[in-house]
Amino acid sequence: MGVILELRGLSKRFGQGESVLEDVSLKIGEGEIFGLIGKSGAGKSTLARCVSYLEEPTAGGVVFAGREMGALSRGELYEARRSMGMVFQQFNLLMQRSVIGNVCFPMEISGWKRRAARERALKLLETVGLSDKADAYPSTLSGGQRQRVAIARAIALSPRILLCDEATSALDPETTRGILALLRELNQNMGITILVITHEMLVVESICHRVAILDRSRVVEVGDVREVFDHPKTEAAKALVAGDGQPDRARKLLRAVEAYRDKAGLAGISAEEVLRRAGIPID
Ligand SMILES: Nc1ncnc2c1ncn2[C@@H]1O[C@H](COP(=O)(O)OP(=O)(O)O)[C@@H](O)[C@H]1O
Ligand SMILES: [Mg+2]
Repeated sequence: MGVILELRGLSKRFGQGESVLEDVSLKIGEGEIFGLIGKSGAGKSTLARCVSYLEEPTAGGVVFAGREMGALSRGELYEARRSMGMVFQQFNLLMQRSVIGNVCFPMEISGWKRRAARERALKLLETVGLSDKADAYPSTLSGGQRQRVAIARAIALSPRILLCDEATSALDPETTRGILALLRELNQNMGITILVITHEMLVVESICHRVAILDRSRVVEVGDVREVFDHPKTEAAKALVAGDGQPDRARKLLRAVEAYRDKAGLAGISAEEVLRRAGIPID
């Protein structure tokens, strides 16, 4: 299996602050679903931004599809980024555009003819199960449907890799399952490599082949999902595994918070964050 994405001794710090990423090295194989898991603040989103060079690493680098990202000209970098689809927790849809308008957007700014873009967008909407919503507006869609639009948009330019940063973290468990099934399908049917960034072990267990654990700026463990979760070696890995077996009461509390969050218009914020904002300690 060829390597599609490699991080080589990547470090990142902002200004004079502490290192957010420290000497991170990873190889992600072509066609793989690779999980990156870590607690909030571990540096996951920063890593996602460094992969696409939206943030420039302070040291080390990124090799994507055989090319050193740091050595690319601006034009080449732009080209490389078009081979990376991105999906975020908060969907980032254009609210004033229809569903199909959102999916057409990356094709339009890449110079596609309107008609060709629409045709491809309709196919993509079929792929993600939203054929009947082409002319709807994002505000009328559920969270799961919005994320499907975002996924259709992310794969519009046939990227080599899909970067999903907490793509299911704003969704309820059932909707999460549907989105994960869709990602697995895209991986199997289109061979697209997926980097799944999450704080949820269940997500990694459901679809990932391999996983890396990011703990306080460093990758502390990497390997096959079953091996890492069945035989965690580091404290960080053990804590993640133990955390998933949290008592029923804690699970119920999280459910209740999720229901409240959705009613209170706080979609897009994790249940943990809602608790934190309510001043309830959770760690
Ligand atoms: N642009 C930035 N400037 C300064 N600090 C940042 C910036 N982006 C992220 N950080 C810090 O980096 C750390 C990791 O953040 P992040 O990558 O978002 O973690 P995660 O996604 O794992 O929750 C946090 O302490 C955060 O405050
Ligand atoms: Mg994050």
